[in-house]
Amino acid sequence: MTTNNPQYLIPNTRLLITGATRLTGVIGWPVGHSLSPAMHNAAFAALGLDYVYVPLPVPPTRIGEAVRGLVALGFAGANVTVPHKPAVLPLMDDLTPIARALAAVNTIIVRPDGSLLGDNTDGYGFMADLQSQIANRKSQIEQVLVLGAGGAARAIVYALAEAGTTIAVVNRTPARAAELCQTVRRALPAAVVSAHPFPDALPELAARADLIVNATSLGLHGDADALPWNPAVPFRADQVVYDLIYNVETPLLKLAAAGGAQVIDGLGMLVHQGARSFELWTGQKAPVDVMFEALRRETGNRY
Ligand SMILES: NC(=O)c1ccc[n+]([C@@H]2O[C@H](COP(=O)([O-])OP(=O)(O)OC[C@H]3O[C@@H](n4cnc5c(N)ncnc54)[C@H](OP(=O)(O)O)[C@@H]3O)[C@@H](O)[C@H]2O)c1
Repeated sequence: MTTNNPQYLIPNTRLLITGATRLTGVIGWPVGHSLSPAMHNAAFAALGLDYVYVPLPVPPTRIGEAVRGLVALGFAGANVTVPHKPAVLPLMDDLTPIARALAAVNTIIVRPDGSLLGDNTDGYGFMADLQSQIANRKSQIEQVLVLGAGGAARAIVYALAEAGTTIAVVNRTPARAAELCQTVRRALPAAVVSAHPFPDALPELAARADLIVNATSLGLHGDADALPWNPAVPFRADQVVYDLIYNVETPLLKLAAAGGAQVIDGLGMLVHQGARSFELWTGQKAPVDVMFEALRRETGNRY
């Protein structure tokens, strides 16, 4: 950090903007609600790195210009969120195998030669958080039931299949679940994945699941949302129920906790997918605890 340049203090982070500050951010539309700036800026400040992370609202019609602008402006990289994850794919020079398989990029790395690498860290974030949360569990996770077949479900089914688990996917629109399974099998021929109709298949699949994951958007509005579940189907104490939603305690997690299952919300996945992006941009190990703390502060210390 140079001392001759003007410096600007970012509140709550002790993060300084200097003449040499590296830029990162999140491209979305809208993006003002994103918790990622708070999380990444706290991490940069904690490690004393001369980086900043800013929200980058980009309308769909301007995504090409925005991505090319990252290189022109000397960004280290950026996250990509709704609705741009598929649209940035053809704008990358290279893709990691998971980004190619999912046809969705959530992390762009601007390499020193100005070329762009597209990655997808959602599956990594889910697995890293799951592993840390179930570290004390005695038995292995072998059978997984995934509710939903959207973008988030694709990333976690890929990661779970790569880890060797057997996965059943249940979705309101069965064709989307079937298409997800095909995508994962094409990329990972040894994957054991199958698609099933909702809710008819739930009792049988739930009975054999070690892990149940809600990757639908049902629960985002708390108790106002319907359950992505049949309440007559019981949970067990040896089951883990993971809900990707992180802004509220979802009806599914309440029901699963009442049934004695271990429940996990999506905050840790958000932290770990961000931690992976952070490491790709800076080459430094991300301060995961600091990132968790920043998110807890932003979400009113509910967690
Ligand atoms: N923790 C994290 O880091 C993280 C990361 C990514 C996403 N998420 C969360 O994961 C959730 C899914 O995100 P996404 O990007 O995958 O969304 P998406 O692509 O829009 O997929 C939404 C999924 O929810 C299902 N769904 C929506 N409304 C439904 C309803 N009324 N009844 C039954 N199913 C319904 C959809 O089923 P159909 O296919 O039938 O439409 C689809 O499977 C969101 O809540 C998001 O906030 C969390």
